[in-house]
Amino acid sequence: MSTPLTQHQIEIRRNLNAWQNKPLLRRLYAGFYERIVALLDANLAGRIVEIGSGVGNLKTHLPSAVSTDLFPNPWLDVVCDGYELPFTNGSLSHLILFDVFHHLRAPNAFLREACRVLTREGRLILFEPYISWSSFPVYALFHHEPVAWWATIDFVGTLPRPRDYYAAQGNATRLFFRHERRDWPSGWSLFHAEAFAGFSYLCSGGFSKRTLYPERWQSGLQRFDKILSRWPRIFGARCLVGLLNR
Ligand SMILES: C[S@@+](CC[C@H](N)C(=O)[O-])C[C@H]1O[C@@H](n2cnc3c(N)ncnc32)[C@H](O)[C@@H]1O
Repeated sequence: MSTPLTQHQIEIRRNLNAWQNKPLLRRLYAGFYERIVALLDANLAGRIVEIGSGVGNLKTHLPSAVSTDLFPNPWLDVVCDGYELPFTNGSLSHLILFDVFHHLRAPNAFLREACRVLTREGRLILFEPYISWSSFPVYALFHHEPVAWWATIDFVGTLPRPRDYYAAQGNATRLFFRHERRDWPSGWSLFHAEAFAGFSYLCSGGFSKRTLYPERWQSGLQRFDKILSRWPRIFGARCLVGLLNR
């Protein structure tokens, strides 16, 4: 039997607890959000909307962003599904998805909707797991979501059915770095695709596991990550992707 969509809400509640009790996680995410903010184009007119905001952390770094998610939670601005956005055509400058793209069973159906709501040259920014030689075993063995490295990705352009819980951590790496599907996505241009090492993040245990190092090691590990990021195929663990709506 497939897992219901409400699984997301169970995880959001669990993540809120980790977010409030793990300062290390908040500091690591601050660095991730800085990378996202650096990709924004301040000259574009329109609102910035985050899809799948979860516990709504991005707002601490980008207060102007409209936070949305599938389920009502007090910190959200709008409850909505990424496949059916309640925004008018061409009204948004940016869409931001942090760890959400790998939950989209039908990426083309989402991209069609994103294209509709974004202004011309509007930006879609994705922050995702990156699958490398070293991160593959970590994500496969210690994270509850499947990497789905060899699974078929569904390229239908319509709202996916069933509307159940879906996760495939490898999808961004496969599509934006390995380019498994040629000339994809049409109507978009990829202006940024960066993978970087994240041992400071992986060993923090993220939202669901125990931290494996003392907090005072954080900056040293981050410097180590910066060096290892020169070899993303071996050491990459996270990635940042930017697409322009043509
Ligand atoms: C792994 S969580 C990430 C949450 C948050 N962005 C973060 O970084 O902590 C994935 C989020 O995507 C949301 N999500 C999944 N499918 C979605 C969809 N079709 N439309 C909107 N949000 C969706 C879930 O409800 C969940 O909050």
